[in-house]
Amino acid sequence: MASIASSFQPFESDKTLANSSDDLKAVVPSKFNFTNEPTALRSDSIPIVDFSALTSSDPDQRSKSIHSLSKACQEWGFFILVNHGIPEELMSATVTTAREFFSLPDHEKKKYEAKSASDPIKCGNFNVTNNSNQNFTLWRDYLNLYVHPYFHCPNKPQLLREVVLEYTERTRKLARKLVESVSESLDLEQHYVDQVLNLDSSFQLFAANLYPPCPQPDQAIGIPPHTDPGLFTFLIHNGVAGLQIEHGGQWFNADSPPGSILVNAAEQLQIFTNGRCKSVRHRAVVNDKRERISIVVANGPAGDAVVGPAAALVRKDGRAIYLPMKYEEYVEARMHGLVKEAQLTKSRLHGKSILDEHVDN
Ligand code: OGA
Ligand code: NI
Repeated sequence: MASIASSFQPFESDKTLANSSDDLKAVVPSKFNFTNEPTALRSDSIPIVDFSALTSSDPDQRSKSIHSLSKACQEWGFFILVNHGIPEELMSATVTTAREFFSLPDHEKKKYEAKSASDPIKCGNFNVTNNSNQNFTLWRDYLNLYVHPYFHCPNKPQLLREVVLEYTERTRKLARKLVESVSESLDLEQHYVDQVLNLDSSFQLFAANLYPPCPQPDQAIGIPPHTDPGLFTFLIHNGVAGLQIEHGGQWFNADSPPGSILVNAAEQLQIFTNGRCKSVRHRAVVNDKRERISIVVANGPAGDAVVGPAAALVRKDGRAIYLPMKYEEYVEARMHGLVKEAQLTKSRLHGKSILDEHVDN
């Protein structure tokens, strides 16, 4: 999730990007400056997971698909979910209605302007601090909602509440099945998984991102490289490409076909599986032609779930490579850029994710 991709800082500019389009046609104002290399390789090899096979009554088909899901989480950390049962009309209504939210006048959206990281409804642009401690603003507007176990949503546009409620309910069910399937592939007992992660009270976040066309796409970024908190993140979009994922030290364009959902393993899944599932870095680049909208749903464990490596895997591996932490405290620490103090991890992975920034070995 973008808003949780980096430390929280309140809404800064007086205009959202959605309502500044005439000012943004020629050059990128300096506050957005982020020198960037947006090119990436094409990939036809992002794994595809057939959701319907995970629930098949044919045991052979089921076990094959559980295996391919587990392999995708371990090798790419990303996969394209097909035959998931969410109607395309609901997916496109979610994108369209989120777009209508961004089209509201700024004085309407200001009601939801982010004041603190833990507001259940937040919108605005977003400032982040880069490695050399320079602030820059992301080339995107966002709307972030806490949708489960308590549902929060703006009242306008009229349809927003209904579509977000339905879309997030459905993604929550899919995420649960994915967690159960990955756990099964690792021989973890279902009862244990339910008890630790408590998915009935899953903490779920909905984010809509709007990336207007950018006159100099190499001078700005939609969302810088990051990994997501949670178990599985689900992403759909308006048909305009922009998500890139890291694999084998290179960036790949992650295009997902219409009707599919791009899913990635997130940080708590990596922790719970003691590093088997990879929460890989990804970023959103911008383009100079078409507006892009993405809808991102982060499906987590319960806020009060204490997530550490599963006991059976620690026994098998002879050690736990991450420290356990209560999920809500993790999210809070992460939003305030305090994960370092929280001594979250002893990860040995390479690259720059929240999980391995603080390597102590
Ligand atoms: C996010 C994210 C990518 C995109 O919101 O965490 O990675 O393409 N978004 O919008
Ligand atoms: Ni993300």
